[in-house]
Amino acid sequence: MNHSFFFTPFSPVAILFIATFFLLAKKASCTDPQFLACEPKSCGDQKISFPFHIQNAQEEYCGYPGFAVSCNEKNKTVLSLSDNEYIIQEIYYQNHSLRLSNAVGFGKNTSCSPQIQNISLNGDRFRQSTTRTGLFFFYNCNSALLGNDSKLLKHKFCSGESANVSTLAMLDDDPLLGSASEKCGAGVVAPVDVYRGENVSIGKMLERGFVLNWVASNCSECDESGGRCGFNITTYQFKCFCPDRPHARSCISGEYFFSS
Ligand SMILES: *[C@@H]1O[C@H](CO)[C@@H](O)[C@H](O)[C@H]1NC(C)=O
Ligand SMILES: *[C@@H]1O[C@H](CO)[C@@H](O)[C@H](O)[C@H]1NC(C)=O
Ligand SMILES: *[C@@H]1O[C@H](CO)[C@@H](O)[C@H](O)[C@H]1NC(C)=O
Ligand SMILES: *[C@@H]1O[C@H](CO)[C@@H](O)[C@H](O)[C@H]1NC(C)=O
Ligand SMILES: *[C@@H]1O[C@H](CO)[C@@H](O)[C@H](O)[C@H]1NC(C)=O
Ligand SMILES: *[C@@H]1O[C@H](CO)[C@@H](O)[C@H](O)[C@H]1NC(C)=O
Ligand SMILES: *[C@@H]1O[C@H](CO)[C@@H](O)[C@H](O)[C@H]1NC(C)=O
Ligand SMILES: *[C@@H]1O[C@H](CO)[C@@H](O)[C@H](O)[C@H]1NC(C)=O
Ligand SMILES: *[C@@H]1O[C@H](CO)[C@@H](O)[C@H](O)[C@H]1NC(C)=O
Repeated sequence: MNHSFFFTPFSPVAILFIATFFLLAKKASCTDPQFLACEPKSCGDQKISFPFHIQNAQEEYCGYPGFAVSCNEKNKTVLSLSDNEYIIQEIYYQNHSLRLSNAVGFGKNTSCSPQIQNISLNGDRFRQSTTRTGLFFFYNCNSALLGNDSKLLKHKFCSGESANVSTLAMLDDDPLLGSASEKCGAGVVAPVDVYRGENVSIGKMLERGFVLNWVASNCSECDESGGRCGFNITTYQFKCFCPDRPHARSCISGEYFFSS
């Protein structure tokens, strides 16, 4: 065998090498700017990518409308939903869900002042999952009215409050709920996930938070084809940003035959 055949200047193999090199070089030199812009970013150890985008750190077109988050000074991802701020504990991209906890209730030092507000998922972006329960907070309970009601006093949530006012917390299936709202007035409800047969403290429940499902375009086809998902707000259409150009669904050609 004469090996030099393959690498003589004008052998077909050498031409193929050279052509491939120039093709790759050309491709690399003009990578689509939206593909570059939508590289996933991190907040703490949480990867942020479509449908989320970090406000002021990623282009809006890298996310789906309604999924803007921010990254706070403690490297926690923050999502605002109906006037409450929630810490995103974990994003489960594979099943389109995320675990949130109320930012004011987070950590050891749970606030006793009425900062938790009712959540209302009136938009169509987020839906509650099935394990969800309500955790009622009654702020400003009149201590004199609570009196010696030892059952209710067991639900006192905060210590070190003024002697006149107490905060009670209980799950929405608690038999004392009626009696508490009689003595304390309207409460606010924080969603929590409660699993059958478990025994965890209310502080732990708040910290653990709750799971919501989200509704947005499915990114997996584009992602698996090497693209980065995005959304064009002008045309209100999903986009798959690929190294060469934006595609409709996936970077693999032939998409027009399969697009829905
Ligand atoms: C947050 O993350 C950035 C980048 O990873 C790091 O430089 C910074 O020290 C972190 N800040 C905190 C409070 O952990
Ligand atoms: C997204 O699409 C993939 C197939 O492309 C499918 O396997 C997956 O279940 C879908 N995810 C959701 C949350 O619908
Ligand atoms: C999605 O998957 C994660 C991890 O597997 C799980 O903890 C979470 O509960 C799932 N979400 C829903 C809505 O079932
Ligand atoms: C807990 O919160 C109270 C009131 O907001 C504050 O005065 C106190 O310093 C906090 N304690 C800790 C350990 O953060
Ligand atoms: C609470 O109990 C104490 C002692 O048991 C009693 O003196 C007091 O009257 C009780 N107060 C009310 C409001 O029931
Ligand atoms: C608590 O109640 C006492 C008498 O019932 C009253 O004098 C005092 O001002 C109250 N304190 C607060 C902080 O409301
Ligand atoms: C919060 O929601 C609960 C239950 O739906 C309701 O009873 C309560 O009045 C609401 N509180 C406020 C301040 O809207
Ligand atoms: C739950 O745990 C607490 C202490 O962690 C314990 O005092 C209580 O009896 C437990 N309740 C049940 C129903 O197991
Ligand atoms: C959205 O689509 C319009 C029309 O095709 C185009 O002019 C515009 O540049 C696109 N915007 C983004 C952010 O891709």
